[in-house]
Formats: sequence, C-alpha cells, structure tokens
Amino acid sequence: MRIMLTGAHGQLGSDLHEALKGQGHSVLPLTHADLEVTDAAQAEEAIVKARPDVFINTAAFHKVEECERRPDAAFGVNASGAMNLAKVCGRLGIVLVHFSTDYVFDGSKQQPYLETDLPAPLNVYGASKVAGEHLVAANMERAFVVRTSGLYGLAGSSGKGGNFVETMLRKARERSPIRVVDDQVLTPTFTRELAAVVSQLIHTEAYGLYHISSEGQCSWYEFARKIFELEGLRVDLQPVATNQFPSPAKRPPYSVMNKSKLQGVGLVMPPWEDSLGRYLNIRAMVQEHAPAPRGLKSPAAAVS
Ligand SMILES: NC(=O)c1ccc[n+]([C@@H]2O[C@H](COP(=O)([O-])OP(=O)(O)OC[C@H]3O[C@@H](n4cnc5c(N)ncnc54)[C@H](OP(=O)(O)O)[C@@H]3O)[C@@H](O)[C@H]2O)c1
Repeated sequence: MRIMLTGAHGQLGSDLHEALKGQGHSVLPLTHADLEVTDAAQAEEAIVKARPDVFINTAAFHKVEECERRPDAAFGVNASGAMNLAKVCGRLGIVLVHFSTDYVFDGSKQQPYLETDLPAPLNVYGASKVAGEHLVAANMERAFVVRTSGLYGLAGSSGKGGNFVETMLRKARERSPIRVVDDQVLTPTFTRELAAVVSQLIHTEAYGLYHISSEGQCSWYEFARKIFELEGLRVDLQPVATNQFPSPAKRPPYSVMNKSKLQGVGLVMPPWEDSLGRYLNIRAMVQEHAPAPRGLKSPAAAVS
C-alpha cells in the first residue's frame, strides 16, 4: 500500500513509519515542515499529488495546559486539521487513520470506557479531539479513529519535550524526591506496540472508532514506581493528590479504555507492565550503542 504519514518524527509517527516499512509498504513520511494540517489548500494539494491508499494522521496539538491558553490553536490542529484531511480523503476514496485520546472522557465511569460511551471532556484538549473525531466521521466513511492513552516511545514526545518514562528517569538522576499523582488512573501505552497493531488494523475494512491502549491500568504514581522497580533504582517517590499540582486544565481521574472491540477484529495489546519492560530493554540497547557525550557518564551509568 502507498501510505502518507503526518507527524513522522513524533513518537507514534516514527514507530508507525518503521512498522509500515517493515511490512513492505511504501511510506511517504511528512514532518510538520512538509505539511501544515491546518492549511486546507496545502493538505489538498499534497494528498491529490501523492494519491495514497491510506493517510495516517498523528499530527496533534496535545500540550494539555497550553491548549487551555490557546484554544484556537488546539481546535485548529486537532479539529480543523483533521477535517481538512478527512474532506480530501473522503472525496478521493482514501482510507484515513486518525488518533484521538482517552481525555475525551471525564473519568466518572470508574470502569473501562467503551467506544459507545458518551465523551464528556474536562479540558480544551479533550474537547478539540472530540470535535476532530466528529469532523472525520462527518466527512467520510472509510476512517479508523483510534483513541489511545499515556503514550511513550523511543522518539520521545516532540510536542511535549520528552515522555513520562524519560522524565522519571531524568528526575531519578537528579536524586531529589519525586512526587507523582496517584489519583489519575490510566493505561500507559508503548508507541511501538500501538504502531504494530494499527499497521494490522489497516488491513481490515472494519472502519470506525477504536480504543487501543495496553491492557491493565495504573495511576501515574504506580507507573513511576514500576519504572524505578524495573530499572533497579532506589528513589524517594511520593504519591500526591492532583490538587497538589495547580493546573489550568482539569484531567479525568479515570480514563481506562475497554479493548473488546479491538479484540473482536482479532487484535490484542499486551499488559502495560510487559510493554514497559520491553521499552526499557530497547532503550538500554539503543543507549549502549549511542556514544556518550565527552566527559559525561551515560545516563544509565549516572543512576546505577
Ligand atoms: N502523547 C500522549 O500521551 C497521547 C495520549 C493520547 C493520545 N495521543 C494522541 O496520539 C497522537 C500522537 O501523539 P504523539 O505523542 O506521537 O505526538 P508527538 O510526538 O508530539 O507527534 C506529533 C507530531 O505532529 C506534528 N505536528 C504538530 N502540529 C502539526 C501541524 N499543525 N501540522 C502538521 N504536523 C504537526 C509535530 O511536529 P512538530 O513537533 O514539528 O510540531 C509532531 O511531530 C496525537 O493525535 C495525540 O493527540 C497522545
């Protein structure tokens, strides 16, 4: 298949690129500099010229606090940007894969959310992603909209400047006490494994909305504790309540998603603890082969 991919240098985009190339697809990777999704004319021109079979959109404005301050920008990328792509893909018969978030929910359900549960976003980011979901559905039928959560990948999250695992490991190296919220429960997801499942999903014609995250659930505090346990690090880690970190954006206290629809098409995601172990192993292998900056110990050595 010929596949166009936005956000190709992002953490999910770079893993999708690898997974799709590995399957023998012809991938046209687009960075933000190559294509601005909010520019409808530019998007149309690029898609018409390349005529892919599938267009995968990982581009997003997902800095949650900044979305509160800049709602126009959030809706521009996450809603209008998605609509621009869906309009062209719908007209040309191109399959679109678009990503959304667990933050479309308010967390009041306290049981894994189904695709049929009504979104009730608590913040601008979540609202802009719900709008994007609807604008894709309103403009085309052959689309996969994938809600995912708590992404971490080897490319780091370019938009957020790192990811949670890297932030925790950096803080451990600084050797000061680490406070992490224990009243927000989610499912962390390794982008390499999400990319592997999505690259299989596109071979089906089972279009629609999907929840795809790892299996299981944890609080951010439990996630941090597992990172340090698997890395063998002794850290002064303290659980705290969300209200200890004042923020302009509210976050759902519970955003675990039910994956039975995904399982219905024969695809499964692994437990989050196993995925985290694989991420840390691959990360260690990558660091072993990367030259350490002169005069500095490698990060792994600095915390051992
Ligand atoms: N990260 C999470 O924890 C998380 C959780 C749930 C859902 N999601 C969703 O999963 C998807 C992928 O997230 P990710 O973590 O892989 O993000 P990421 O690493 O920040 O990658 C997103 C990419 O989109 C590009 N981009 C941003 N604005 C753009 C625009 N206007 N036009 C074209 N490209 C643009 C960025 O390029 P520049 O950096 O050069 O701007 C970046 O390379 C997003 O839809 C996100 O909402 C993420």
